[in-house]
Amino acid sequence: MGRVEGRVAVITGGASGFGAATARLMAAEGAKVLVADVQDELGRAVAESIGPSAVFRHTDVSSEDDVAAAVDAAVSQFGRLDVMFNNAGIVGAVGPIDQIPLSEYEFTMGVLLRSVFLGMKHAARVMKQQESGVILSTSSIAGVMGGLGPHVYTAAKSAIIGLTRNVAAELGPWGVRVVAIVPGNHATAMTADVALGDHTAVDQVVETFRDRKTPLRGRAGLADDIAHAALWLSSDHAGFVSGTAIVVDGGLTTGSKEAAERGQGTFAAPRPLILQGGQRGLR
Ligand SMILES: NC(=O)c1ccc[n+]([C@@H]2O[C@H](COP(=O)([O-])OP(=O)(O)OC[C@H]3O[C@@H](n4cnc5c(N)ncnc54)[C@H](O)[C@@H]3O)[C@@H](O)[C@H]2O)c1
Repeated sequence: MGRVEGRVAVITGGASGFGAATARLMAAEGAKVLVADVQDELGRAVAESIGPSAVFRHTDVSSEDDVAAAVDAAVSQFGRLDVMFNNAGIVGAVGPIDQIPLSEYEFTMGVLLRSVFLGMKHAARVMKQQESGVILSTSSIAGVMGGLGPHVYTAAKSAIIGLTRNVAAELGPWGVRVVAIVPGNHATAMTADVALGDHTAVDQVVETFRDRKTPLRGRAGLADDIAHAALWLSSDHAGFVSGTAIVVDGGLTTGSKEAAERGQGTFAAPRPLILQGGQRGLR
């Protein structure tokens, strides 16, 4: 028995990166998967490589009609909806806050935040009736720390965590869990594009991220790291997890640059504690 045997998942952004890795892993663990994306050729290829337990559907996540239709298609083809993974995304508007055109702000928020609202709305419509389900959404470390992403991206990814908490509070009584996933730096088409200017250079970006000074030295984030988090959160093993954000970032948001090397940092060396009131404590 797979860990999500017989469950039905809609995965947005399923043509690439986290979404494609999650679609493959969930299907390998027994789920039926609807791959939803705007990249038709890639999305279709992902579904075909999985086989009969996957279908592709063209879906622009910023469109309510498209998101509603993707949910309805999963229900009509596979009979139910157990997992909604609101994962599609772009980097979106970049640049200084005083120069971002409103049109770019609105477009970016449409893809990154309206999409998650729509995914939650239409999944809840089905899951409330079913009285079960899991809604996952991809946030980012930019949603929990300042200075790690572009402004609009950061706003959207922060809001996803707030929306997750609130919707979890509403849907808990229906047995529906709602969780955000917070990735760090992972090698995908998106980050290959940002780091190297080439969305196909995913293997090279693994090397780039290996050198980054996160506590887990020499270990780049991979798409599979997020797929495994999504699989666990979708399974009964995470049956008491809701309304929270699961960080999968190699420790990056500990912010512990100071303890960068083994055994180094202000508090790394042992010192005897003076066990007496009024003393500062350290000899
Ligand atoms: N890779 C990272 O390090 C990282 C870190 C934090 C958060 N994220 C988030 O993870 C999610 C997945 O990104 P990824 O790294 O796998 O990148 P990716 O580029 O490999 O995949 C993103 C997918 O989203 C799809 N997409 C974009 N706009 C869409 C739209 N309007 N409608 C439907 N699909 C659309 C793309 O076609 C693509 O297939 C995104 O939300 C991203 O912001 C990624």
